[in-house]
Amino acid sequence: MKKYFFRIKRFDPEKDSSPQWKEFTVEMEPTERALDGLIKIKETIDGSLTFRKSCAHGICGSCAMKINGKNGLVCQTIIKDMPDTITLEPLQAFPVIKDLVVDMDPFFSKNELVLPYLINNEPPPERERIQSPEDQGKILQSITCVMCGSCTSSCPSYWTDKKYLGPSALLKAYRFIFDTRDRATDERLKRIITHHGLWRCHSIYNCVEVCPKEIDITSHISKLKRMAVRKL
Ligand code: SF4
Ligand code: FES
Repeated sequence: MKKYFFRIKRFDPEKDSSPQWKEFTVEMEPTERALDGLIKIKETIDGSLTFRKSCAHGICGSCAMKINGKNGLVCQTIIKDMPDTITLEPLQAFPVIKDLVVDMDPFFSKNELVLPYLINNEPPPERERIQSPEDQGKILQSITCVMCGSCTSSCPSYWTDKKYLGPSALLKAYRFIFDTRDRATDERLKRIITHHGLWRCHSIYNCVEVCPKEIDITSHISKLKRMAVRKL
C-alpha cells in the first residue's frame, strides 16, 4: 500500500460562491484505479464528495472528468501510471452541478439532433439486415464510443460556440451515415451541414488526444467533410 494525494476541485452551489480545492490522502494499492480512490474518500473521509460512476469498467462513460489536466475516465486510470498527486476537476465546458458532476444535457441534446438510430423504412428481411465484415469495418471505431463527453468538453471550437454539435455528435452522425444499412444520409447531412455543425471542426485534435476509446475522431469528421463537399 502507498499513500496518494487527491486534489479535488469542489463546488456546492448551496454553500459555495466559487469552486474550492480540497486535498485528501488515501492508502491504495498501485493496481487500483483513481475511481477506487474517490470511493475510498467518499466512504471513509467525506461522504459529501459527489461524482458519477456506474459500470467501473470503461463502458458506461459516466465517470469522465479532468484527470491531471486531461479528460478521461477515472475507472480506466490506474494509480501506478499516475504521479503521487492526482488532480481531479469536473469536465470543463459543461455547467457544474456539484463537485465532479456536470450537467450533461447540453451534450446529449446535440446527440439527439443527429438522429442517433438506424433509419431504414424498407421491408425488413426475414432474420436481420446483413452487413459484411468490410462494411462493418467502416464504422467499427465509431461504434465503440461510450458517450463520455471527454472529447466535446475538450474541444476549443465548442468552448467558443456552445451551439456547435461537437466531436461526439459528429462521430455519431458518421456512425449512421457510413452504416450501409441506413437510408437517411441526406437528412443526416442536412442536420450537420449547418452554421454550428461540421465546418466548426478545425481539426485541432484535442478530441483524439483525450478519447478513452482511442477513436480517431478527427479522421471520421474529415470523411464526413469530404462527403459533404461531394454532395454540395
Ligand atoms: S468519442 Fe471518445 S471521448 Fe468522445 S464521447 Fe465517445 S468515447 Fe468519449
Ligand atoms: S464508471 Fe462506467 S465508464 Fe467509468
